[in-house]
This record gives sequence, C-alpha cells and structure tokens, in this order.
Amino acid sequence: MILNKISLLNFKNYDQIEVKVSPFVNCFLGKNGMGKTNLLDGIYYLSNCKSFFNSVDSQNIKNEEDFFVIQGEFKGEEKPENVYCGVKRGKKKVFKKGKKEYEKLSEHIGLINTVLISPMDTNLIYDGSETRRKFIDLIISQYDKKYLQTLIKYNKVLVQRNAFLKNLQQGAKFDELSLQIWDEQLIAVGEEIYEHRTKFISEFKLVFDEIYSTISGGNETAQLNYKSQLDEKNFEDLLKDSLYKEKFIGYTTKGTHKDDFSFEIENRPLKKFGSQGQQKTFLIALKLAQFKHIESKTESKPILLLDDIYDKLDEHRIAHLMNQICEGVYGQVFITDTNTKRLPAFFKKRKYECFSFEIDQGELVK
Ligand SMILES: Nc1ncnc2c1ncn2[C@@H]1O[C@H](COP(=O)(O)OP(=O)(O)O)[C@@H](O)[C@H]1O
Ligand SMILES: [Mg+2]
Repeated sequence: MILNKISLLNFKNYDQIEVKVSPFVNCFLGKNGMGKTNLLDGIYYLSNCKSFFNSVDSQNIKNEEDFFVIQGEFKGEEKPENVYCGVKRGKKKVFKKGKKEYEKLSEHIGLINTVLISPMDTNLIYDGSETRRKFIDLIISQYDKKYLQTLIKYNKVLVQRNAFLKNLQQGAKFDELSLQIWDEQLIAVGEEIYEHRTKFISEFKLVFDEIYSTISGGNETAQLNYKSQLDEKNFEDLLKDSLYKEKFIGYTTKGTHKDDFSFEIENRPLKKFGSQGQQKTFLIALKLAQFKHIESKTESKPILLLDDIYDKLDEHRIAHLMNQICEGVYGQVFITDTNTKRLPAFFKKRKYECFSFEIDQGELVK
C-alpha cells in the first residue's frame, strides 16, 4: 500500500500536522530531537497498531494532552483507504479502517506492511530471545493471517496452563484431567507454530543469504538458524518430562514460547564475535530480506522506513542502498537525516522523485 497523506494530532512532540507525501522517496530532515523519527513512528503505528519505540500507548500522547490521533490516507484499489488510530488516556485504543472500527487489532495486521530500519535494530542482537521471536513472528504475520491467530491462541492457552500450575504450586489439588485439556490444546497449537517457523526460516534463509552476500561483498558467510526445544523431542514428551518440576515452580518451561533464532558469522555468535561492521551488515540484510520476503509472499512492496541510516552504515553500503532505491527496487520510502542538503541533492542528481520536509520542533518548516 502507498501512503498519500498522514496527519498527527497530539502525537509525541507534534501538536497538529498534515503531510502529503510522495509515492516514491520522502525525506524528513532536521536537527536531532525535532520529530523526524516520531513521524516515521506515526506511519509505523498505522501499519502495526502500535509504536515501534514505546509500547505504552498513553506515553505517546503529547505531554499534558489527553489523547492523540493518527490518520492516514492510503491509495486503495479503487478509492483511497483511510486508517484511524485514536488513543485517549484511560480508554481502549480505537483503530478504524474507513468508518468501521476493528473488533480486534490483529485483523488489521498485514493490510499495510512496513519495514523499519533503525539504530534500535541492535536490540535484535543484544536482547533476549523474545525480541527475535517477535521480529520473526511479525514478518510471518505480515503475510499470513492464520499464523497470527495461532500465536494468539497459543498465548491464551499458555496463560491458562500457567495459572493452573501456579494454583498447584500454592497447594491446590492436582486435577489431571484439566491439565490434559490444556496440554492437548497447547501441543496442537505449538506444533503448528513450530511447523510455520521451520518453513519460514528455510525460505527466508535463501533470501537473507543472497542479500548478505551482496552487501558484504561475498567475503564471508552469515548464518540464521531456528532453535526450538521441539527440535529434540516432541512437545507431548517435553511437557511430560517437565511436569514434576513445573508443579514446583508454577509455570510452563517447555514450548515454542522458548524458541530462539541464532545469528552467526562464520558459524560463531554475532553478538560475541561479530565486529560492529559485521553486525550492521547482518541487521540491514535481515531487514532487507524482510522486505523481499514479504514482497514475494504478498506481491506488493512494503513501505520502507529508514531511520538515521547515515549513522548506521558506511558510505559504500549507503550508496548501494540508494542506488537500489533509484532503480525502483523499493517502492515508497521514508528517510530521516540530520543533514538537510545531502538527500535532496542526491535524488536531484539522479532525477528521482523526492519530497523533502524540514522539521523543526514538531512543525513542518517547508
Ligand atoms: N509523549 C511525548 N510528548 C512530548 N514530546 C515527546 C513525547 N515523546 C517524545 N517526545 C519528544 O520528541 C522528541 C524526539 O523526537 P524524535 O522524532 O525522536 O527526534 P529526531 O528528529 O531526532 O528523530 C524529543 O524531544 C522527545 O522529548
Ligand atoms: Mg531520530
């Protein structure tokens, strides 16, 4: 989907702005702390129903205000598609397509896909497994609606099974039949997730390898692997074997909620052995592979959001990415930069359509 226009009201450091954007390249330019990243985050909200940077919705309301609204107009098949996100302190978030409010936010995921490249991506390397699972789960959810429903179901059953174990821990009588019911559901859904993730990684690896080799110059190899407790034993046996322990500790220790994805360079952990340059290359390859994979699954290009890439990449890699943008490899692109001249000059020279917006303290200067 292509964004035509976005408007923000009381969102982060913005009072009220409306930005009509280009279907090609858009540059948000200005000094640090002016609101460039916040504007990208507004677009991210319309795609993912939440902020990339702050998962507490109310903290994205402008200080001392009571609510925020983000509205986007997207180019639809026949007529424009309007998306609305409203957050009011103490109220449930309202998310609408056209005039109709979604019953569940998960219904919206996949309609407008974005890929964000940000300095925060290093969290994928340094955080625990949850960050990597969420990243991979988001990619699959961007093209497979059923997968997201499966994840939601798994988490619901897991919460119930954990509550059951917690009760046992606190002295409740062991009711084997109840546990069996939770287990059957958890196993069925968990195995489905395992299959999806296995299939995903086998396809995604190919895309990732190719991109990694292009941007690293083909001098080294990177590995992306899926690791699950279900690799070694079936889920039913895993649960059986750990029941004795889980009755004491009061929660579920085995399952796909413990899965991880390992990042390696020359078969050694990227976190420990990768240089900064290798880590950056790995992350950008990961994100561009996300783009390519979603594009091939949905036959449509996600919106590419590039936050402060000049801080992140060396000149050679930036040039490569910019050339690809000008060749139309990526569709609609939003880029932030603290240098107000560099990007407009580059795209002008290449005669590629580019809209530039200068942002100063939450206002559009031009
Ligand atoms: N809820 C909020 N209310 C008011 N200002 C906010 C809120 N959240 C973030 N900000 C402000 O937004 C500014 C950062 O904007 P950002 O988009 O990250 O800047 P940059 O142009 O450097 O990308 C900071 O000054 C920060 O204090
Ligand atoms: Mg920024």
